[in-house]
Amino acid sequence: MSFYNAFKKSLPWVQSPLIANAPMSGAAFNELAIAVSRAGGLGQIGFLDDMHELSNELQVARDKLQDLMSTLPDPQILPIGVGVIVFGSPKDAWMTLFRTHKPAVVWLSFAGTSELRQWTEAIRQASPKSQVWVQLGSVKAALDVAQACHPDALVLQGSDAGGHGHQDGASIVSLIPEVTDTLLQHEIGDIPLVAAGGIVDGRGTAAALALGASGVVMGTRFLSAPETRIPQIYRDAVFKASDGGQATARSRVFDEIWGPNFWPATYDGRCLRNKVYNRYASGMDINKIRSWLVSEMNGPGSKSLDVQDMGSLWAGTGVGMVNTMQKAGDIVRTVRDDAMKRIGSLA
Ligand SMILES: Cc1cc2nc3c(=O)[nH]c(=O)nc-3n(C[C@H](O)[C@H](O)[C@H](O)COP(=O)(O)O)c2cc1C
Repeated sequence: MSFYNAFKKSLPWVQSPLIANAPMSGAAFNELAIAVSRAGGLGQIGFLDDMHELSNELQVARDKLQDLMSTLPDPQILPIGVGVIVFGSPKDAWMTLFRTHKPAVVWLSFAGTSELRQWTEAIRQASPKSQVWVQLGSVKAALDVAQACHPDALVLQGSDAGGHGHQDGASIVSLIPEVTDTLLQHEIGDIPLVAAGGIVDGRGTAAALALGASGVVMGTRFLSAPETRIPQIYRDAVFKASDGGQATARSRVFDEIWGPNFWPATYDGRCLRNKVYNRYASGMDINKIRSWLVSEMNGPGSKSLDVQDMGSLWAGTGVGMVNTMQKAGDIVRTVRDDAMKRIGSLA
């Protein structure tokens, strides 16, 4: 679907092609969302389970974006998105938040179809002008959710994606065209598709549009932005990594290392590969890995550990192309301009 049909009316400040920052929990706060939306992208704030803190983030964004909001057809709508990790989240409290702050987009992820339907219906009552986007990782999930919820966009997360994701996933190269065909066969091809996973520049963006997406979401690329709230040591590890398929790995061990994993079994996550992962992949028992890690961190051996050994540093396979700090607004403009040039040169 063309950018114009997909987003021009619902997100009127956004320029073509749509570029959004992923609502990265623990990393994407108001500074990043504001910078991305100001640059004509869709800025998003990541999931927080502290609703008071999240409400403050949204209020700061509202205060700081007043000038942009006053130019929009509905100046009450906050021109940013908010991410919800749905499983385990208290629906009613979130609806109060949406009723108050009216985000342009509510991004839902990590839940089954019936729960997503309940959330979609509730959001449409609480904040009727908020768009509901759902992130999914398979053709079946995309079809089920499209039929049950008819969201305003489906975000298709490919297996290259950094952060939590869908364990049995394909890359966007096959996922997007197959979802496109499947939705058309079921006569629901009117839902815009947004690509996520492994896209870090204009080349990836142009490719995603060619595959059938109406816009793209980037997480890993925005880890390089000073507006993303991560420790510099994390950002430096991202800059140092190269050869993304080798430097990162998908596994559930990244959620298991500090205790029981509360994530449902269908989800894992992609992180910078580390010594914990290497031990897990070679068959070591998780309790033994935990004891080893604690003794290494507390003993003289801690010098042998890198920052990514001691924590789970979420990053996607595009990490090898993310090498320098760049302001979030410049990332949006550079990627957008480069994508347009590449599309033009292909034509
Ligand atoms: C640090 C980090 C945190 C993330 N947190 C979330 C999250 O809270 N909710 C969510 O739906 N996706 C989350 N994701 C996944 C993104 O939504 C998106 O699918 C992914 O970043 C796209 O792949 P890329 O990192 O290669 O750009 C996260 C990704 C990263 C890198």
